[in-house]
Amino acid sequence: MVSELRLFVEHDFQEKAQQYFAVLSSRGVAVKIELVEKLNARFFRLNPDLALCVDIEGLWLSANGMKMQPDWKAEVGRLKRASLKSEMIARACNLGEKPKLIDATAGLGHDSLLMAHLGAEVTLVERHPILFTLLESSKAQAENDPFLKPIVARIHLVFSDSADYLKRQIAQKKIVDVVYLDPMFPQRDQNQNAVKKQAQVKKQMQLLHVLLPKDGDMDLGDHLLELARKMAKRVVVKRPRLAVFLADQKTNHQWHGDACRFDAYFQHPISE
Ligand SMILES: C[S@@+](CC[C@H](N)C(=O)[O-])C[C@H]1O[C@@H](n2cnc3c(N)ncnc32)[C@H](O)[C@@H]1O
Repeated sequence: MVSELRLFVEHDFQEKAQQYFAVLSSRGVAVKIELVEKLNARFFRLNPDLALCVDIEGLWLSANGMKMQPDWKAEVGRLKRASLKSEMIARACNLGEKPKLIDATAGLGHDSLLMAHLGAEVTLVERHPILFTLLESSKAQAENDPFLKPIVARIHLVFSDSADYLKRQIAQKKIVDVVYLDPMFPQRDQNQNAVKKQAQVKKQMQLLHVLLPKDGDMDLGDHLLELARKMAKRVVVKRPRLAVFLADQKTNHQWHGDACRFDAYFQHPISE
């Protein structure tokens, strides 16, 4: 349960704010709508506490004088430059084969957006109610963009803990080509210093960090690997470059980049 958050909205978007209010409440997030005259930079500077806001571009999180959202539209430039050859994630997840893929740690959905762009059919699973609602908002915005529309048609959002979701899939004897895992990792920024991050990327990481548990309470996702291996032909884990293996499980293959690496676990699916 997330404690009560203020949801700021200008007069023209009150109806939209009511819709988000209902959705967030149904997911256990207590929200108080506050009508404001102008949602501008000055307003956000004067209201630095964690809050939500709604405008023409949907739902945003605001904190520390900034407003932030997964913003899939801002990814278009990167997507246009990406190819199966240039992207390490494409080799790790075998995207050339247009796999059915479960991204069990959705976050801002950026990895999945790239994977869907390169051909995968992606089910994105996220358990955090606010992040999930922000993802839904980003997807809805992307559906109005001619470049993103066919890409997001290959993305399906599921609000669930992935352990529960994977268990349900295993019980139904479902098999997928790839399960992709990118769990949080303590001090991951320090491990990624090799790559100079753009301001936009830094801002989006802050969004994750204000919402998610801090290092000591962080769920490192070790338990997801065993479940994923029961139902996927290939499990791919994104790790900071020098991080230990997930769940101490030695990988079958690795792809190394400047900022991160991908650990792959191949296996034949269960056939009981
Ligand atoms: C490092 S972020 C993933 C970033 C993502 N790859 C991207 O491109 O934006 C990890 C996310 O996984 C989510 N997560 C971690 N464990 C989960 C679980 N068991 N079920 C669902 N979501 C989980 C966290 O809430 C967080 O949003």
